[in-house]
Amino acid sequence: MVLGIESSCDETAVALVAQDRTIVAQSIASQDAQHAPYGGVVPEIAARAHVEVLAPMVERVLADGGMELGDVDAIAATAGPGLIGGVMVGLVTAKALAMAGRKPLLAINHLEGHALSPRLADAGLRFPYLLLLASGGHCQILEVRGVGDYRRLATTIDDALGEAFDKTAKILGLGYPGGPAVERLAQDGDPRAVALPRPLKGSAEPHFSFAGLKSAVLRAHESGLHDPADLAASFQQAAMDCVIDRTERALQQAQGMTALVVAGGVAANRALRAALEALAAKHGLEFAAPPMKLCTDNAAMIAWAGQERLAAGLVEPGGDPLSIAARPRWPL
Ligand code: KG4
Ligand code: ZN
Repeated sequence: MVLGIESSCDETAVALVAQDRTIVAQSIASQDAQHAPYGGVVPEIAARAHVEVLAPMVERVLADGGMELGDVDAIAATAGPGLIGGVMVGLVTAKALAMAGRKPLLAINHLEGHALSPRLADAGLRFPYLLLLASGGHCQILEVRGVGDYRRLATTIDDALGEAFDKTAKILGLGYPGGPAVERLAQDGDPRAVALPRPLKGSAEPHFSFAGLKSAVLRAHESGLHDPADLAASFQQAAMDCVIDRTERALQQAQGMTALVVAGGVAANRALRAALEALAAKHGLEFAAPPMKLCTDNAAMIAWAGQERLAAGLVEPGGDPLSIAARPRWPL
């Protein structure tokens, strides 16, 4: 049994996950309401909110699972990358639990949590698979070859995909988080109505760029010539064209992939899922998208990464848990 803790962005989460993939208990507190007035995540507000809810949440999740700390075999906590204040809150809490319960502490890379989460949802998903990780903070394509064995094929040179949705929502006055609102509005618009750029489309390396697209949306909106629904639909179409082009390029560079997998908050987007599913079919690959609760930030994926690391024998032996440092930047 692994107790997982996640606090690297604006979700505080705790979960108990068993070796057989059962999520025994979990809880997630979103800080959306606290950040909404600012149109984005404010690090200081996030860290304080984690402090307020985390300790009682650990107690509640243990109680919900009918367990005590003594019944847990290891503690897994996100040690980075992320907003440093929040990461520290989760890691320090995990250190205290590990010390008090004399349990091993597993320092998990948040991106590894996302990368392995599809295997928590689907026991049949085998390595290696290609993962598109698209959220408000991350936009990467990873070759997931095994536990602890990742190759990053692509990243964004400016904004993340979810960030582009959020900024477009802000321009159109749709509130935060903006992705779902933009998707909803896009359903009433014409995706061909507004000519927008497709940054990096067709370039040799599969990297992403969305800043130029966002600026073009801003200019188009300020021109006053376009219906907001048309603009939302045209933005979403341009973003999808880029993502599919870039993912296909990455597929050409990867070898022996068994599946195409998407995770991160933007995986909720139906247009994205449909386009990726078609791309997977075109390349004779399985397509997998974990349930949304596992796509967005959560602690079950952190606990599961801990399980995978334990099973693979990738636990630093006899390491002093107190010496593990929180890392704002930590490439996989
Ligand atoms: O994974 P997540 O919950 O948090 C992190 O950013 O780590 O992802 C949130 C992001 C936000 O940018 C949000 O706007 C975007 O995912 N998102 C969507 C949709 N639902 C959430 N973007 C496009 N379409 C959606 N339906
Ligand atoms: Zn994340």
